[in-house]
Amino acid sequence: MKLIIDNANINDIRSMYEYFPMDGVTCNPTILAKEKRPPYEVLKEIRDFIEEGELHVQVLSDLADGMVEEAYKIRKELGDDTFIKIPTTKEGLKAIRILAAAGINVTATAIYTQMQAFLAAKAGAQYVAPYINRIDNLGSDGVRTAKEIHDMFRNYGFKTEVLAASFKNSRQVITLCEYGIGATTISPDVLDLLIKNDSVTAALNVFRKDFEKVCGKGKTML
Ligand code: E4P
Repeated sequence: MKLIIDNANINDIRSMYEYFPMDGVTCNPTILAKEKRPPYEVLKEIRDFIEEGELHVQVLSDLADGMVEEAYKIRKELGDDTFIKIPTTKEGLKAIRILAAAGINVTATAIYTQMQAFLAAKAGAQYVAPYINRIDNLGSDGVRTAKEIHDMFRNYGFKTEVLAASFKNSRQVITLCEYGIGATTISPDVLDLLIKNDSVTAALNVFRKDFEKVCGKGKTML
């Protein structure tokens, strides 16, 4: 499972890359706006820092022609390997087909249903991004939706992978990891929850206390 950070703050990204085995960065217009700086200035900094890592950037146009135009501008500014996040609307499907036919990396985003995912995959998207927590908040089941999309892609032999997004707790991530989902994009606070465990801290404290009783305070294996 690829582990991608859903954030555009360079300090957060540097910090997450320092501790976690990260594969890239995603953002959306809301995440970018939080930086209160020109978007390409923010994104170029991220691009340089993550080197070969995946960078997923979303378009804002409602119509297919505008989405395609934005896609070419994003690639010009940030490189041809950038994944263009296209909202999975009717216009979005048209844009996905045009971009995929031109060999451009597409992440179909704003996925709430299995049908959107099917259509986006058939149109040629590399990834589809179901919004796990937002689906949960509609009274449905985001994790189940992502699993069903994953299974559907396998049944059809599609190469498209699920890039599960919008997580609010570690359980949602762990369940999808166990299931073999292709990728997840996670905010820094939820990433931290994946490794935070009070039982581990308690066990390590006992080891330290036992060792220090015999070898002295602050002693290590040095
Ligand atoms: C990803 O494509 C989405 O932009 C993002 O993960 C949404 O997350 P949120 O529901 O936490 O805003």
